[in-house]
Amino acid sequence: MVYVSRRYAFSATHRLHAAGLSDAENQAIYGKCNNPHGHGHNYEVEITVAGPVDAVTGRAVDLAALDALAGREVIGPLRYRNLNEEVEAFRTAVPTTENLTFEVDRRLRAVWAGTFPGGVPRLEKIRIWETERNICEVRGI
Ligand code: NI
Repeated sequence: MVYVSRRYAFSATHRLHAAGLSDAENQAIYGKCNNPHGHGHNYEVEITVAGPVDAVTGRAVDLAALDALAGREVIGPLRYRNLNEEVEAFRTAVPTTENLTFEVDRRLRAVWAGTFPGGVPRLEKIRIWETERNICEVRGI
């Protein structure tokens, strides 16, 4: 079993604002990230897969297939978007790095077996860099 990771990048804008809280509470919790006009990030997404090394190809994952999947399900739908207004999941959930990582994991997991028959390699984890200092990780169960 080996672990292979591949990174992708996309830019998007968001605003941290919880619908269940007052404007004052939102301002107190999120500070400048609650700016009504939003702000942008250059996100990096790292997808890690785990699987056996194929004896013939010497590979654990078809990177072209992974690129196509990530492009179709994650990068294309999120790139240059206003996450709050243009991505369905964030009409209700606050687009924090935590929730964004869950959303990327959910999107990939929903179609994983369609790209990788038998679920091999398996989707091991998703890491997202919102900034150089803010990094969130979700591991598959
Ligand atoms: Ni932000």
